[in-house]
Amino acid sequence: MPETDHECSLPEDTKCAYRTRVEQLEEDLEQFAYLASHDLREPLTGLAGFATLLQSRCADQLTDDCRHFLNQIIEGTKRMEEKLEDLLAFSRAGRAKPTGSFPLGQAIEEARRALVRSIAETKATIDIKGELPVVEGDRSMIAQVFQNLFSNSLKYRRKDKPPLIQVEAEPHDDDSWRVAVRDNGIGFDMRYKERVFGVFQRLYTIEEYPGTGIGLAIARKVIDRHGGNIWTWSEPDQGATFYFTLPPATARS
Ligand SMILES: Nc1ncnc2c1ncn2[C@@H]1O[C@H](COP(=O)(O)OP(=O)(O)OP(=O)(O)O)[C@@H](O)[C@H]1O
Ligand SMILES: [Mg+2]
Repeated sequence: MPETDHECSLPEDTKCAYRTRVEQLEEDLEQFAYLASHDLREPLTGLAGFATLLQSRCADQLTDDCRHFLNQIIEGTKRMEEKLEDLLAFSRAGRAKPTGSFPLGQAIEEARRALVRSIAETKATIDIKGELPVVEGDRSMIAQVFQNLFSNSLKYRRKDKPPLIQVEAEPHDDDSWRVAVRDNGIGFDMRYKERVFGVFQRLYTIEEYPGTGIGLAIARKVIDRHGGNIWTWSEPDQGATFYFTLPPATARS
């Protein structure tokens, strides 16, 4: 199992130039996500409003076919509103402020509370292995990372057994904690290990599993903002593990 997925043998100055370029591209993408979600929302709200009006006032003048088309338009606008909302959440993740220290367990508890219904419905267990550290970061954004990872473990569960999620933190390198979130779900082929972190990238159709494909992109952005790495290890039918690193609480906090 790899310690981290980010080792490469390029010279330091080339790495540095790549890093600057990647950071610039990420900033552009974030800005684009913000503008797209913000500016597209207004015309979309108008479109959705008029389609709903047409449905409530004129439905009896329409043929069955036309009513079906109108329903498709309304469904489409709803999906688009959700995607824009997700894009906005993605651009917000870039503004995470890692400026305080907090016990990691608090972020896990916050995520667990947010998912209490689906945890009960799927009969899932979240198991904390060993002691959890105090880390430096933005508590609510790290809670969001746990929530996105847990909700995936609940969604991509196996049909034959309830989800079991194990969380563990271990010292990593000299100066960080490595957090592991492991599940017993359907897993995926490691050829998709990078793709799963892409914006709107998914391995299944919306009919098979609902979702927009933003959860892991948000998680990666938040961890990047904390100066950490996030990566995954999985095998089809053998569950998936997501690892991320976080700085420990500094002496000043
Ligand atoms: N724990 C997991 N087990 C198996 N597959 C996973 C797991 N987590 C993520 N994936 C795969 O990675 C893809 C991307 O995950 P991500 O959380 O970004 O999006 P999503 O769950 O499809 O939608 P969203 O989180 O935006 O509602 C998923 O569509 C799924 O194919
Ligand atoms: Mg998800």
